[in-house]
Formats: sequence, C-alpha cells, structure tokens
Amino acid sequence: MVGKIPPGPRNAFLSGLLPKDVSKQIDFYYKLIDKYGDYVRVDVMPGFTFYLIVDPAGVEHILQTHQLKYRKPNRFNNAFGVIAGNGLVTSEGEHWLKQRRLMQPSFHREALVSLTDMMAANIQWLLSEWDQLPDGAEIDIAHEMMRLTLKNVGMSLFGIDISDQSNKIAPNLIRAFQHARYKLNAPFSLPEWLPTRENREFKEARAALNEVVQDIIDTHRRSASTHDLLNLLISTQDADTGERMTDEQLRDEVITLLIAGHDTVGAALSWAWILLSQNPDKRAILNSEVRHLSSRYPLWADMQNMPYVKQVFDESMRMYPPAWGQPREAIENDIVEGFEIEKGHMIALCQYINHRDPRWWSEPEQFKPERFADGSEKDRPKVAYFPFGGGSRMCIGNHFATMEAMLALAGISQRYDIDLISNESVQMDLTFTLKPKGRVSCRLRRVA
Ligand code: HEM
Repeated sequence: MVGKIPPGPRNAFLSGLLPKDVSKQIDFYYKLIDKYGDYVRVDVMPGFTFYLIVDPAGVEHILQTHQLKYRKPNRFNNAFGVIAGNGLVTSEGEHWLKQRRLMQPSFHREALVSLTDMMAANIQWLLSEWDQLPDGAEIDIAHEMMRLTLKNVGMSLFGIDISDQSNKIAPNLIRAFQHARYKLNAPFSLPEWLPTRENREFKEARAALNEVVQDIIDTHRRSASTHDLLNLLISTQDADTGERMTDEQLRDEVITLLIAGHDTVGAALSWAWILLSQNPDKRAILNSEVRHLSSRYPLWADMQNMPYVKQVFDESMRMYPPAWGQPREAIENDIVEGFEIEKGHMIALCQYINHRDPRWWSEPEQFKPERFADGSEKDRPKVAYFPFGGGSRMCIGNHFATMEAMLALAGISQRYDIDLISNESVQMDLTFTLKPKGRVSCRLRRVA
C-alpha cells in the first residue's frame, strides 16, 4: 500500500488507555481525535487493531462508495449474535441478501403508509391511558415511549399487541445488551458455557426474551392474520429449494425486528421530549404547528404541513443518535483519503461525534431544529449526518421509524406538555442504543 499509516497509540490495552466502562467510550474517542486527527489507528494489542474515522469523506467511502471492501465485523456479529442469532442485523453474505430482499418490500414507504392510521390510533391509546391520570401526574417518559413503540412494532409487523410485555422485555434487554457489549469490547471474553455469574445472568435474560418471541410466533400461528411481515416470513418458500424458514431462523428475525424496531425509536422519542422540555422556545414552535389542528388528531396526510415536526425528530437524532456508533471490518487492504487501512482490522465510525462536529454544525451543543429546514443539507458534507447508516446495510426501518416518530411527536404535543421534573442534566446510557440513563421523570400537563 502507498498511503500514510494513520497516527495513534500503540499497545493501548497494556498501557491502560482503553476505557473499562462503555460510558467512557465516546470520551475516549474524543481524546484520540483531539490528539491525532480525523484518522486514528489504535493498536490495542498484538492481533487487535482498530481505526477511528471521523472525516465524513472517509465515512462515505466505507459505508457507501467502497462498501464492498467492508463488512460488519465478526466480533460484532458474534457479540450481538448471542441475542439476535443470524437475523438481518447480524448476518452477512448470501444469507443476509436473501433475507433483506424478502423483507425489503414490506418496508417501502408506500407499503408503510397503510400502517400509519394504526400508528396514529396507538398514540391515542397511550393518550387515553394518560387521560386517566390526574393533571400534573408524574410519568417515566422513557418507559412510556418504549410501551408505545412496542405496541407499534408488534401490531404492525407481527399483528399482535405486545405493549404489556414491556416490563418483561426492558430489564432483560438491558442485561443481554450488557453481556453483548462486554463481548464486543473486551480483548478476551470467557466462553458462554462457563458457569460464571455473568454467563448465568445473561442466559436467564436471553431465555426470557426468547419466551416473548416464541409467544409472538405461537399467537400469530393461531391467529388469522395474513397481512403482516411475520406472515410473509412464515409462509415464504425458497425459490430454488422450496424450503420454508426454519423455526430458528424465524426466531432470529423476529427478535431482531422486535429489538431494532422498538428500542431505537423509543430512545429517539425519549430524547426528543427531554430536549423539548429543556428548550421551551422550540417547544412553542412545535406546539403552534400541531395545535391548530384541534378538531381531530393528526394523521400521516397532515405531516406534509408540519415541517417542524420532522425537524425536531432529525435534530433530536443529531444530538442523541440512537445508533451512536457503527463498526466495520476491512476485507481487503484499502486507502481511504490517503490513509492505509489494513485488511482484517476493525473500523469504528461514530455518529455521536460526527453529528456534533463544529466544522459543519454551528453551536453543536444547542438544540436547533431549524438547522434541518429544507435545503440546509447543501451547507454540510454529504455524510455529516447518518443516523440510519448508509449503503446497502442502511436501516431497513428508516421510513417506519420516521413515520412513527413524527406521528407521536405531533399527536402527543397536541394534547400534552411534558416537563422534566429535575433540572439536572440527563445522563446517557451507551450500552447499546443511546438511551437516557434510568428513569426520566416528567410531569404531564393536559392542554386540550
Ligand atoms: C430512530 C430509529 C432507528 C435508528 C436510528 C436506526 C438505526 C439503524 C442503523 C444505523 C442501522 C445500520 C447498522 C449498520 O449498518 O451497522 C440499522 C439497521 C437496521 N435497522 Fe434500524 N434504526 C431505527 C429504526 C428501525 C426500525 C423501526 C426497524 C424495524 C422495524 C429497524 C430495523 C433495522 C434492521 C433489521 C437493520 C439491519 C438492516 C441490514 O443490515 O440489512 N430499525 N438501523
């Protein structure tokens, strides 16, 4: 290769540079780029090196223009595969392509529009529960948003209401993610069969999640539902072999969609309410946009007249991208913007850092939805903002998420103001999706 070797630390593991705790990972990345620049090579220990790339041209190269030279790392697929098996997020190659082609039509924008009335009605279901509470009642908005997104994903994709499973799913998902994150980041991890406390707790969490998934599949098989994605997955036969999906593959796809489909949007909406509460002037703009529609609740067709709703969603994901980092592995040697990338090594891309880069975002720590007004993207590099990733592995649920989130922001703002109770800043949980840490206590104030 004829490029420059990116600068960076050597023997990062032995010299104690690597953060022990995932909560420090973004700080660690900031220290690296402050010292070494947009391309950093971190030699963790012999045989384990990764590159950190924050130059948007480099991100575009890896995710889009030269994506065939990269794949999701085995380390990532193995770590999250202990939860999601060989589902769409953690699979590769022919198998991934076959599954992606099968599911893609269900996620086209046009196909999803028919689900938006149900999504809007689900928001009214949540509001009617809130209406039972006294005005000014305290709620945990993060928990409420997860209940809503579980209901949407369950009813849209599997034809089943699973919102009442939230208390079972949430704690077990956290435990399972902690284990996967440990496997992803630790230079060595103990095999799953060893009877350690870590392994035992993880297996209990995984068993509980599997129970939920099996219940979804069994309930669906007993129902007459024929129009949802799960029905497509159950009934499709391979064009060459005539085989149907095995029970194991079906489980892997259902748990993947269940997790990817609710946890991400739930996180994005939680941050949006936090930011709106902290920025009453921006909330007033949103409210004036949605509250003129007072005689009925907002539907998808109304969204084209509500540009600020979309800007609030985009800006919330700029500041707190639910997928805050994205790993890749080089499958051949490559030169990225003059820097050598060696085959077999991992590359860390980090939405959180790119989305707050002061070179393209003025006052990046400020919540300013207006920066996403029509035409504003011409003022920044193409891949300065990539909450849904890019290239062929781009999020399959991006339209689903956008429709659901916009309807929720509009429908809820029409009826309630949501105020954070504490003035203290909300901490981030980086274990998997970027979520607010712990309970997010808010006061609900009815406005209509
Ligand atoms: C705000 C919400 C969401 C965000 C920020 C988000 C983000 C992402 C990102 C960044 C990726 C690419 C990961 C990579 O290439 O390494 C991805 C992939 C994926 N997402 Fe989403 N997602 C969201 C919502 C959803 C929803 C609602 C669904 C399903 C209903 C979904 C299902 C998936 C699946 C199955 C993949 C894997 C696609 C593939 O590799 O072919 N996501 N998501």
